[in-house]
Parts: sequence; structure tokens; C-alpha cells
Amino acid sequence: MATILAIESSCDEMSVAILRDQKELLANVVASQIDIHKQYGGVVPEIASRKHVECVSAVLREALQTAGIAVDEIDAIAVTKGPGLVGSLHVGMQEAKTLAIALHKPLIGVHHIAGHIYANAIENTIHYPCLALVVSGGHTELVYMASEFQFEVIGQTFDDAIGEAYDKVGRVLHLPYPGGPVIDKMAHVGKHSYKLPVPLDDGSYNFSFSGLKSAVINLNHKYEQRGETINMDDLACSFQDVAVEALSSKALKAAHDLKVKEIIVAGGVSANKGLREKMANSDIPVIFPPMKYCTDNAAMIASAASVMYKYKKFSPLDISVKPDYDLEKESVGV
Ligand code: KG4
Ligand code: ZN
Repeated sequence: MATILAIESSCDEMSVAILRDQKELLANVVASQIDIHKQYGGVVPEIASRKHVECVSAVLREALQTAGIAVDEIDAIAVTKGPGLVGSLHVGMQEAKTLAIALHKPLIGVHHIAGHIYANAIENTIHYPCLALVVSGGHTELVYMASEFQFEVIGQTFDDAIGEAYDKVGRVLHLPYPGGPVIDKMAHVGKHSYKLPVPLDDGSYNFSFSGLKSAVINLNHKYEQRGETINMDDLACSFQDVAVEALSSKALKAAHDLKVKEIIVAGGVSANKGLREKMANSDIPVIFPPMKYCTDNAAMIASAASVMYKYKKFSPLDISVKPDYDLEKESVGV
């Protein structure tokens, strides 16, 4: 096994983690910029990368101090190589390359979604074959994993990712950014009283959330035009119920069809209480990451890198960042 120092900077969080033997988390420092981007109703890429440049060294220093280990105890430097915002990714990548050269350690470029998936391996053991339900701000996918670090994307969204739909609905309803956690809280107060369209109810493993998102926005607009007040908590609850039903029913269908041992949920929306409750009593075990590993953090990147280290999946020093790395090509043996 190995001690991995990992950097994650794909969006508006700069994070550095140090993980020993995949299970022992020595440090996981996350510097969030949410308070800055809140003013704009979403992440402003240019600001995100500039803020990363400002804080990366302090976050790295804090992680090393928290871990309390000597740098020569680190076996590899891992970093998110994509997908994500290119300017943001560059900051983490450059820091990682510099560390790898200075410390004479291998570099491991990690796919961001592989990181979200392996957030489930820090405090749990993944049993294969499994199905990963990936629900983040940029992705909504069903990924079949026959064995460790084997990724087959069997379904995905045709339009908005689920987190994106939450955040766009939040913006139109004038809720603070990001809308996801706020809508989740409101949904627990409200009732499912508005009728909304069921997204892509076609028996496939694919998703579509833009129709549902537009239906919520249009309903709110109709009430505004009529001068009537819509019950925001009920609207949030109605939206969440329909969205969560689409995610859980498709994941469960695929899990049964493919006879997997368990479903693992990954990505920021895995923090969603409605989704957790909905899937809690499924007839297949459903594993959610601990809340602290749901949204972007470097511990999950270190966890994926621990597996990659075992298979010696190292990256050359001229590796580039990309907004759209293909997950399937990350599989061991490819
Ligand atoms: O995985 P993540 O941190 O970043 C990406 O890789 O995209 O996911 C961020 C997304 C945001 O869209 C945010 O609104 C959503 O996760 N999110 C939630 C909740 N917590 C975070 N969505 C619904 N319910 C939540 N409790
Ligand atoms: Zn993410």
C-alpha cells in the first residue's frame, strides 16, 4: 500500500489530502470559494482559477502540517486531471507536477469521477460487480464496474446533470448558490403537491433533467404572472421527489438487470437526504459516501490514486488537463 498526497482543484474547491493505505486519512483540507461565487449565482471560472492560485500553497502547507509526516514518507503525488474547469485544473496540476519533480515521486493523474466513486472506499469496502450511480454538478451516469477500477458507462444524461438542474432551479427561485442543498432542506418541509413531468420514463438507463427543470421554472413563472404565490417548499419537494424517483428507479433496474452485489452512489448529490431516504430500503445494498466525502475533496482523489498506485497507473510529466476525459479509458488494463 502507499501514502498518497492528492490535490483536487477541478471547480471552486482547492483541496489537498494525505491518505495512508487508502483507509487512514491523515489530512483533508478543503478551501471552498462558495461565498465568493454566491454573489454571481454560480461559479465564475476566471475567479475560481485566480483564487486557486492564491490559496494553493497555504492549503498544501496546512495539509502537510495536519498530517505531521515528513515529505519523504509520501509515495506518490495524485491530482485531478479532469473533467472540470480547465483554468482551475491547471493550478492543481502544476502544483502536483512541481511536487512530483521536487520529491522524485510518481505522478498520478486521476479522473474526477473515478475519485467520486472511490470516495466510497475510504471508510467502506466496495464489493464487485457493482453499479455506481454518479450524481454530481457536471455528471449523471450509471457506471457498471465488473471489478476494481473497471468502468463501463451504461447510461447517462442527455442534457442537464442532476446537480446542474438543482442549481438552475435554485437560481430561478432566487435561492442562494448552490441550489442543491437548499432545495433538499426545503423539500423536507414541503409536500409533493405540484404535478411535474416524469423525466425519460422509457425503460432505458439514460436520464434527462432539462424538461423537469423547465417545468418547475415555467410553473413558478405562471404563478408570478398571475400574481399568485407559489409554495416554494412544496415546489422544492415536488421537484426533488420526481428527480430522486428517476435516479433511484433507473439505478435499481440496472442493478437488477446486471445482477450486481451493490449500488455505490457518488458525487455531490449523494449528499441529498431525499435520495438517501429513497434508496435506504432498496432490495440491493446501496452505499453512500460519508457526507464529508460527497462534494469535491482531495481525499476521494487520493483514494482512487491508491488503487492506481497498486496497478502502477502513473502519468507522464507532460500530462495535460482536459475538460472531458473519458472514464472508460481509465479502466485498469486499458
Ligand atoms: O460533485 P460536486 O461537488 O461537483 C461536481 O463534480 O460537479 O457536486 C456539486 C453539486 C452541486 O450541483 C450541488 O448543488 C449538489 O452537488 N449538491 C446537492 C446537495 N449537496 C450538494 N444537490 C442536492 N442535494 C444536496 N444535499
Ligand atoms: Zn465533483
